[in-house]
Amino acid sequence: MAAAETLSTAPFSLDSYHVSEELGFILPEPLTELPPYYQPWMDIALRVPELVHSHELRSHINRMPLLSTNILQKHRELRLAHLALSAMTMGYVWQEGENGTVEILPCNLAVPFWEVSQRLGVPPILTHSDGVLANWRKKDPEGPFDMENLELLVRLPGGDSVRGFFMVTLLVELAAAPALRNIPNVINGVRCGDTAAVARALEDISQSLQDMTDIFKLMQVYVEPPVFYGIMRIYLSGWKDNPSMPKGLVYEGVQTEAMEYSGGSAAQSSLLHCFDELLGVKHGEKSGAFLTSMRNYMPPAHKQLIQDISLQPSLRGFVQQQASERLNQAFHLCVTRILSLRSYHINVVSRFITVPAARARQLRKQGLDLEGEMISRAPTALEERGTGGSGIMTFLKDVRDQTKDALLPETSKEMNLPLTVLTDDTQQSVDDIT
Ligand code: HEM
Repeated sequence: MAAAETLSTAPFSLDSYHVSEELGFILPEPLTELPPYYQPWMDIALRVPELVHSHELRSHINRMPLLSTNILQKHRELRLAHLALSAMTMGYVWQEGENGTVEILPCNLAVPFWEVSQRLGVPPILTHSDGVLANWRKKDPEGPFDMENLELLVRLPGGDSVRGFFMVTLLVELAAAPALRNIPNVINGVRCGDTAAVARALEDISQSLQDMTDIFKLMQVYVEPPVFYGIMRIYLSGWKDNPSMPKGLVYEGVQTEAMEYSGGSAAQSSLLHCFDELLGVKHGEKSGAFLTSMRNYMPPAHKQLIQDISLQPSLRGFVQQQASERLNQAFHLCVTRILSLRSYHINVVSRFITVPAARARQLRKQGLDLEGEMISRAPTALEERGTGGSGIMTFLKDVRDQTKDALLPETSKEMNLPLTVLTDDTQQSVDDIT
């Protein structure tokens, strides 16, 4: 477990937070196989898309033996088990779409899923740390960490777009690794009043934030919006605030009352949470409550890191006190790059959710023969709702606007710096949407 930061006067370091120097929050070298005893799980987990397609997943899972979790020892075994059990669970619940959901997850899946989740300290549902952080292997182990050389371990329905969605998100996580490495340099620099060291670290962080946005743009190359909206999205959906699952889900053999969990999204990535805490971005009551709840879906060591960053002396206050032009600029650049990332994200959400949702509504209104129209198969209950059940665009714009509030107004005015450094197409998207 991560160190309690309050006890320490030693330099801040990432050592105890399960953060890799090279890969950030990505799980290094995920296992691709479990001990042979768990073959019945893997046999099904590796065939989820095909078994959903033939409407046979539920019957296969119903016949699965109830296995003990005692043989799972190492962290990476538990992570692969959680990934496999979560993919089976999403397929089981959503196999027949929004109108054919279940109220009970059978005990041969629910009990081991619950036990593995308890040991990892994460909820029993597919999370970002499953689908993205622990769901990769290199085809050529000596080859690069890039789109061509990466493959998913476990898939959900949606073909190549599923691979694209998880892999591009994985590469965004990778692009953030240099920024994470520099967080201790910022914190230690502030603690000992080293203005130049803090400015240098913030400059590196701003470059890494720019790289994240650039990589994010690959989403449009590798993911087709109708496939995302019409097929994939439901398999990422949870059973909290979801009209298709109003009673939640009973995990049979765990407890008799139904439980509610949010679906998987990159709101559960620890990246933006860390940067917000470092830069002093404060969220409003409603959006803040949702974002804070998402921390319960992260590996506990990553959640602890966010918490410990929030306990450090204020970077924003330090920048204001120092009156250093270089430091002010570096801080300003970091906040504007987060703004730029969030603006681009709004653009992506518009293309992948808002536009297909409008098209699906239009098709329904015209009463056209919808057979074959992929987006018309999308769950209507999810149309423009996020995993937290709120209006997506309102939420995302609130979060973006709260990011703006972290800018130092006097810096922007005195130095004549741009309020944002939006690239052409992110600016375009913001113009389209706002
Ligand atoms: C097709 C791609 C994507 C879509 C359609 C999408 C959609 C969404 C939606 C609907 C939300 C609202 C909250 C929720 O429903 O959980 C959200 C939140 C969020 N997403 Fe994405 N997302 C995508 C990719 C990414 C990627 C690659 C990142 C990488 C960091 C990311 C980071 C976030 C963050 C940090 C939030 C929380 C709000 C914030 O802090 O600004 N998303 N996303």
